[in-house]
Amino acid sequence: MRIEMYTDQSLLDERAAQLIADVVKESAQPILGLATGGTPTGVYDKLLNIYRKGEVSFNHVTTFNLDEYVGLPASHPETYVSYMNKHLFDHINLPKDRIHIPDGSHPNPAEECLRYDRALEEAGRIDLQLLGLGHNGHIGFNEPNKTLIRSTHVVELSPQTREANARFFDSIDEVPKKAITMGIGSILQAKQILLIVKGAAKADIVKEALTGPITTEIPASLLQTHPGLIVLLDREAAAKLDPAMIAPPCSSAT
Ligand code: PGA
Repeated sequence: MRIEMYTDQSLLDERAAQLIADVVKESAQPILGLATGGTPTGVYDKLLNIYRKGEVSFNHVTTFNLDEYVGLPASHPETYVSYMNKHLFDHINLPKDRIHIPDGSHPNPAEECLRYDRALEEAGRIDLQLLGLGHNGHIGFNEPNKTLIRSTHVVELSPQTREANARFFDSIDEVPKKAITMGIGSILQAKQILLIVKGAAKADIVKEALTGPITTEIPASLLQTHPGLIVLLDREAAAKLDPAMIAPPCSSAT
């Protein structure tokens, strides 16, 4: 695992965007695993800057998003399909038929999970999976539990996750109770994983996830087993880590 810490959020976002752009440039048929939430919006902004400078093209890229709420129409502004269109897809030359996001409005969510797994399997291994970290240690919507599920599945969102996401809705009652999430097996199968965490409120869970026991009660702790894990933290999220674990910021972030 490589952990980098950035005092300047903009440099962190640039470093993440550059890592994504490098994968897109280096692979003939790159597959990106993408994340939503508050954390990656700056990363997508920086990726758009790189695209607008003409340094990267997405016409050969395939994407798979981690998750989607169940029960909201796709047109709802808080679905993850709306988020991705707004922050990235509407602005780049990524062919629409190469975009994969679970359909949370499918009348049969279990069937939709099977369809999503088939699409993942047909595409092959994800080259780079972008991840945020939940306050409770979730990745995607793989919530803490006694056991975790390998493949795409419907999940009941924990009260903590619904509370954390209530800021995007008018009230907590509007936050969906269920979601479809890519499973932990699909996430861990990615060739490279890029975990981004920001803010003091996540300093404790960062320490637990990266240095504590590997346990399904903290799904992100399973990332410790991944040989291609890069973690980008701001100073606040890194505050509880032993500084000896942290590599200097990468100078390619300009
Ligand atoms: P956030 O969510 O980026 O909105 O904090 C992260 C996550 O829950 O994975």
